[in-house]
Amino acid sequence: MSEFQAAQALDKKDPLAEFRTHFVLTPNEIYLDGNSLGKLPKAAQKAVQDTVAKQWGERLIRSWNEAWLELPSRLAEKYAKLLQVSKEEVIIGESTSVRLYQVLHALAKSDLSPKHLGTDNLNFPTDLYVMEGIAQDFSFGEMTQIDYGQEVEADLEILKTTIKEKPGIYCLSLVSYKSSYLYPMKVLNLWAEQHRSILVWDLSHAVGAVTIDLKETATKIAVGCSYKYMNGGPGAPAFLFIQKALQRKLANPIQGWFGHKNPFAFESDYHPNQGIDRFASGTPPILSLQAMEAGVDLALKAGIKNIRKKSVLQSEFFLEGVREKLLPLGYQLESPTDPECRGSHVTLSHPASWQICQGLLQGTSKDSKIIPDFRPPHFIRFAMTPLYTCFEELQKVIFRLESIVLTKEYQKFKTNKPRVT
Ligand SMILES: Cc1ncc(COP(=O)(O)O)c(C=O)c1O
Repeated sequence: MSEFQAAQALDKKDPLAEFRTHFVLTPNEIYLDGNSLGKLPKAAQKAVQDTVAKQWGERLIRSWNEAWLELPSRLAEKYAKLLQVSKEEVIIGESTSVRLYQVLHALAKSDLSPKHLGTDNLNFPTDLYVMEGIAQDFSFGEMTQIDYGQEVEADLEILKTTIKEKPGIYCLSLVSYKSSYLYPMKVLNLWAEQHRSILVWDLSHAVGAVTIDLKETATKIAVGCSYKYMNGGPGAPAFLFIQKALQRKLANPIQGWFGHKNPFAFESDYHPNQGIDRFASGTPPILSLQAMEAGVDLALKAGIKNIRKKSVLQSEFFLEGVREKLLPLGYQLESPTDPECRGSHVTLSHPASWQICQGLLQGTSKDSKIIPDFRPPHFIRFAMTPLYTCFEELQKVIFRLESIVLTKEYQKFKTNKPRVT
């Protein structure tokens, strides 16, 4: 059996294969950038069209009572199910950066941990920027930024020792955006607890791709976006989880009317809502919320354990091709080799990464266009999004990555880059 036939056979027996039909697909294009922006679910397209035409176009202000006011909490309930916590512990809205600011500010003001902020060099830049700002505003002194000397894996001994020696508020991305490294969440939460620290998890690259049980892992606070593996749409609202016991100890620094216990009484004094709802601020973005529901519905229907199972199978399949055909051509693997320590994307590098990316994006008369994503200085990330990626596509990508280097075709492409890669 050829490699191609083997891939087709895997697609044939894939229990999630049917989910691909729920997305808008582009012919002759292989999309492996679902860890930046997930594909458009057909149901999201319809929901937005209906909302615009009927709820906004016809029902106008009446739609708040008829459909819109309950929308954020309906979505919170669905995300809570996915994250295996109660619906009173999740709120939807704002961006991940704003949610991080809110919770870090709230923690900084609280007496839940020593006054010190820390992270590591695998974390996403927005997290670092928000932390830097909070550390300055609260005069916390220098923030700790652990540098493991490489960007593929966290060194857990170094991380644990740092938490022990400099306890405080630590923010980590459960799956790192560059290498796809997956942290052992429970071990670290328990360690932090033992050493007077609190971990804030950024789940942006993990949600919808790996199994997450926030209760079982003793997670206290987590944030994340919904536009990657959750297919919620460009700039889709983020989610925030705060463990129930902590909620009343944390104050929302953006005291807007939607966080008031009775917003429509229009009182002049601010009295925060109970529970997680105190973390609301302004009017919910209805069009974005309507767009994001189809994505979470599909993830729940497929089941996160099944999604994760397929993601591991696909990543291992892809890596088999990488080892056999690509490493001998100068590609390097920049992701962990152990699937237990890896999310749902695989990162490669090559001295000519950017030119190779241009070749993939352009395609040829016989090769489909391929959309991976590029992260400076030379990383190419390939995301397996089990709801719509098929094995046949992954095999085509391996062949293409092989041929573009073997034939030196990549040399045709320029080395300069646009703003969004
Ligand atoms: C890990 C991580 N956190 C945060 C963000 C940014 O979130 P937002 O733009 O919703 O603030 C991203 C964006 O890609 C990300 O990958």
